[in-house]
Amino acid sequence: MKTLKVGIIGGGLMGREVACAIGRWCALVDFPVRLELTAVCDLVETTREWFRQVPTVRLLTADYHELLRSDVDFVYVAVPHHLHEAVYLDVLRAGKDLFAEKPFGIDLEAARKIRDTARELGRFVRCSSEFPFLPGAQKAWQFLRSAELGHLIEIRSGFWHASDLDPTKPVNWKRQSQFCGAIGVMGDLGMHAVHLPLRLGWRPKRVYAQLQKIYYERPDGKGGMAACDTWDNAQLHCETEIAGTEVPLHLSTKRLAPHEMNTWFIEVLGTERGVRFSTKEPKTVWLFERRKEQVWERYDVGHAASAFPVVTGGIFEAGFSDCFLQMWAAFVAEREGLLGGRFGCATPDEAVASHEIFAAALNSHAERRAVEI
Ligand SMILES: NC(=O)c1ccc[n+]([C@@H]2O[C@H](COP(=O)([O-])OP(=O)(O)OC[C@H]3O[C@@H](n4cnc5c(N)ncnc54)[C@H](O)[C@@H]3O)[C@@H](O)[C@H]2O)c1
Repeated sequence: MKTLKVGIIGGGLMGREVACAIGRWCALVDFPVRLELTAVCDLVETTREWFRQVPTVRLLTADYHELLRSDVDFVYVAVPHHLHEAVYLDVLRAGKDLFAEKPFGIDLEAARKIRDTARELGRFVRCSSEFPFLPGAQKAWQFLRSAELGHLIEIRSGFWHASDLDPTKPVNWKRQSQFCGAIGVMGDLGMHAVHLPLRLGWRPKRVYAQLQKIYYERPDGKGGMAACDTWDNAQLHCETEIAGTEVPLHLSTKRLAPHEMNTWFIEVLGTERGVRFSTKEPKTVWLFERRKEQVWERYDVGHAASAFPVVTGGIFEAGFSDCFLQMWAAFVAEREGLLGGRFGCATPDEAVASHEIFAAALNSHAERRAVEI
């Protein structure tokens, strides 16, 4: 079996998640490639030390250039957004393929530069967005690809959490524009909301954005207060053209959504059929059909609906770590030319398209008008 060596730059929240996904690789059934995490880079020593428990890790370093000189086949990068452009470009120029984290650069200009450089150098690059890999989301995607929906009425896609409702939560880089980007919450959560619509060809033409800053400062963790200048919530009222008709597409990303805890959802309504899936009910997919009576049918989905078969029981329910593993399987399969008709990770073009939406949303909000994308 072929083995690919993986390096991680940024061993924080997501870097550790990746190490765990690679550790569970044996859950994939008959997958033709094995992964080995061999090198990890993080500036913080205690963060690096955590990776000592992974037996295949041979290099721990604070200098990512040292990691790029090692024999890794591709690199996963999970660092704050202001570093994306420089680190991603260095990975590509070092001759390595890249599994990038969203938002794929701090702004549109950075995203275009990363995409164009990858293209020029012929590197395989994808961007992380794991929720469409949940079995329920996969069922929704299969349905949306094939069902006769009738006239499309509206599309809602979003990602909400409430982690920031507590005003005493200390500030961190995700709440400061210089590190997170002027797009704020859209940079944090927007790729999750746009991946499936973009993959279905539902590219917004126009956007009217409502952006909110709700808390302007937070404890700095040193006894004082620090400015918290990113957008907390963003509601993008878009129009997309489907079969010659303009259809409302609502994209919403919120850090202050009371009672939500990492809720990713999609709802598509047509005159004949519709679909609704939310991680709030992670094993439930709702399908609508206009019959004599109007009916929402409720389906339970387990691992059997995953894109890549796993040893986990087909009726067992899936969660975050499962869709993360499925996304990684899709990245590796596509890099090896083995994706087939399965759903793939977000492409550099899709990442750039997401930034085009977010940049237009910033203009829209500043000018309080709908903006063409
Ligand atoms: N796909 C998802 O669901 C998801 C969830 C959260 C975050 N993210 C994305 O992942 C990325 C990282 O977010 P996080 O939550 O893991 O952040 P984090 O703050 O937990 O981790 C970032 C790590 O990068 C390290 N770092 C900073 N500069 C570095 C450098 N020059 N060299 C090496 N390491 C460096 C930091 O020490 C830290 O450990 C962001 O792009 C974020 O948007 C994705």
